[in-house]
Amino acid sequence: MFTPSAFRRLFPALGLRVGGRPAAFFDGPGGSQVPEAVIAAQAEYYRSANANTHGAFLTSRRADATVDGARAAMAALLGAEGPDTISFGANMTTLNFALAHAIGRTLEPGDEVVVTDLDHDANIAPWRMLRERGAVVRACPVHLEDCTLDMDAMDGLITGRTRHVAVGYASNAVGAVQDVAQVVRWAHAVGATVSVDAVHFAPHHLIDVGELGADYLLCSAYKFFGPHVGVLYSRPGRLEDLPTDRVRPQDPRPPERFETGTLNHAALAGVSAAVETIASQGDGPSLRERIASAFAAIYPYEHGLAAQLWQALAVLPDVTLYGPPVGRALRAPTVSFRLRGRTPREVAAALGEQGFFVWDGDFYALTLMERLGLDASGGVVRVGMAPYILPDEVEDLVTAIRHLTG
Ligand SMILES: Cc1ncc(COP(=O)(O)O)c(C=O)c1O
Repeated sequence: MFTPSAFRRLFPALGLRVGGRPAAFFDGPGGSQVPEAVIAAQAEYYRSANANTHGAFLTSRRADATVDGARAAMAALLGAEGPDTISFGANMTTLNFALAHAIGRTLEPGDEVVVTDLDHDANIAPWRMLRERGAVVRACPVHLEDCTLDMDAMDGLITGRTRHVAVGYASNAVGAVQDVAQVVRWAHAVGATVSVDAVHFAPHHLIDVGELGADYLLCSAYKFFGPHVGVLYSRPGRLEDLPTDRVRPQDPRPPERFETGTLNHAALAGVSAAVETIASQGDGPSLRERIASAFAAIYPYEHGLAAQLWQALAVLPDVTLYGPPVGRALRAPTVSFRLRGRTPREVAAALGEQGFFVWDGDFYALTLMERLGLDASGGVVRVGMAPYILPDEVEDLVTAIRHLTG
């Protein structure tokens, strides 16, 4: 069962102090803290399983089991059909460049790809590069008042010429969650494939790739208590013929068809431990059910923290908040704002000195910041909630922000 105080005890870094005050880790969207179980799993890999895969000896068999275990854990986290749908790589950005590159090889000049103005550039730049191959890349605009996708525009952009749509599940800059299932329906109706950037969504919500119907989904374990590993889910049948970059001896079948070189096996031990950590907060007979039950408890808790912050900031005259108001729509518990008269960097630095770790900048959601007119003036301040944050920390943060106003 999830209780924030018990959950906190799993994370050794939370004991850190800044200038005599306990640190408050609101920097989760840039990378969450890591539980002792993840640290221990990685250390244990090096102690007892450190070898390359597919060998005829004990440690190699253990390395195989480490990789297989991480695939099974990620399949459970995403609701995937099985471990063979899960490929690993350095990070989401690297995997997405490889995915775009492979899909690009299947396109004819004039074929269209749709991206969005809302996304992290890791889900825009790889697809824009397909212009070099003669593809037409179209971008879905954003409603600037609440930073949600203009779904009417998306509907119009997906046509018989569309071959692929790359869409983000949740905005890492402002927390807005998109109706990705609808995008999948529109894309599939015209025979196009869809890839979903779930990097910012995955730490906060249960993902069900079966229900979503997306062809590909990407996330990054360091955002959900794990190490720096990128994850690509591919629907069964999608990867088999995809012209991926490969060395000749590489297994041409999924999931290895997508994996170049030796994976970071120790980190994969950490991925399994991260998924287990989430599951440990829920109940149920299977790993998937424990994960679902954990998110059912974590989502309202994190949402409550985000609402606490949003409501406190919304009444401050010098604060401008971005993204859909917390409580009105499904969203990630990520609150972004600006303070009149101070740059986001000044605000983040002042808070950082007091032990409040918050991010400032564009967080690579470059197009969104350009559209909002904030790119040249430092972007926004971003506060990310996590299950290890306590309401008292939010209250103290609000007090610190109040002191910076006026
Ligand atoms: C929404 C989103 N997409 C993609 C990325 C890139 O992920 P990675 O650092 O694994 O390349 C990030 C990283 O912050 C992100 O927040």
